Amino acid sequence: MDATNEKKNKINKIVEIVNYSEISSIKQTVTQIIETINDPNSSAKDLKNIIEIDPPLTAKLLKLANSSLYGYPKTISAIQEAIVCIGFDEVNELALSQKVCELFKKDDYIYGYSRISLWKHSVAVAICSKLIYRREFREHGENIYVAGLLHDIGIIVLDQFFHTDFVEILKKSRTEKNNLANIEFPLFGFNHIDIGQALAENWVFPHEIVKAIANHHNPENADEEFDKISDTIYIANCAIQDKNIGYCDAPYKNMTLFQKSLMKLKIKEKAIGFILKETEKELEKMEEAGWF
Ligand SMILES: [Fe+2]
Ligand SMILES: [Fe+2]
Repeated sequence: MDATNEKKNKINKIVEIVNYSEISSIKQTVTQIIETINDPNSSAKDLKNIIEIDPPLTAKLLKLANSSLYGYPKTISAIQEAIVCIGFDEVNELALSQKVCELFKKDDYIYGYSRISLWKHSVAVAICSKLIYRREFREHGENIYVAGLLHDIGIIVLDQFFHTDFVEILKKSRTEKNNLANIEFPLFGFNHIDIGQALAENWVFPHEIVKAIANHHNPENADEEFDKISDTIYIANCAIQDKNIGYCDAPYKNMTLFQKSLMKLKIKEKAIGFILKETEKELEKMEEAGWF
């Protein structure tokens, strides 16, 4: 068996294991929300139908809608009411975040890593990338938030199913001052990027999301049509890591690649500074509401 096939087989087996584990419990809701966001004819009622069949999600969302964060004078007890008050886009983002958050619950700190800190990193990358789309391209970016939230999902899989090796990798990353993906590869023959890409493919997520996950550490590998989302996630990932927000799996940034991505998307570094301030404000709000 050649190396490519061997790698493919290993990844396929991992995807199969993940599909039998609780990690795959996010698949259905996340897929349905992605479809709602991508369908211009979808309505608050479609979103309500997705949320209401998921009791923990419903409870969390109503709790959030009633928190001081939104400051509504009366109690919100119905999902549809929450959608009208908070806004369609925001409820989509909240529902996605709450659902994906279920994967990051276990909390033990090892060599600077914890699921909660990886969660904070993922949410920050999602918000930062969304703001790049809205402010720099004046685009809604249907898939950008999900891509940001899930770009490092492969790390969760390694933590869960290869825990002993994963702890070793975390240790090595610190002592050898190297990015996680570079240490994962020689040990496994694949890394968290390959797992994330394979899962997104297997769960039939939109191509844009698959490509953004696949290229989140090397946007130069992206086909031209996926440049925008790949470079955006890459820039946001670097910017959030520079700010030390949450866990950082690639602290040793390639400055040339970063500048290239900024140039390709015609974004000034100063603009990223403003966007980061906005991101921090959104994160502070979430922290106040007890998300981290
Ligand atoms: Fe990563
Ligand atoms: Fe990341």
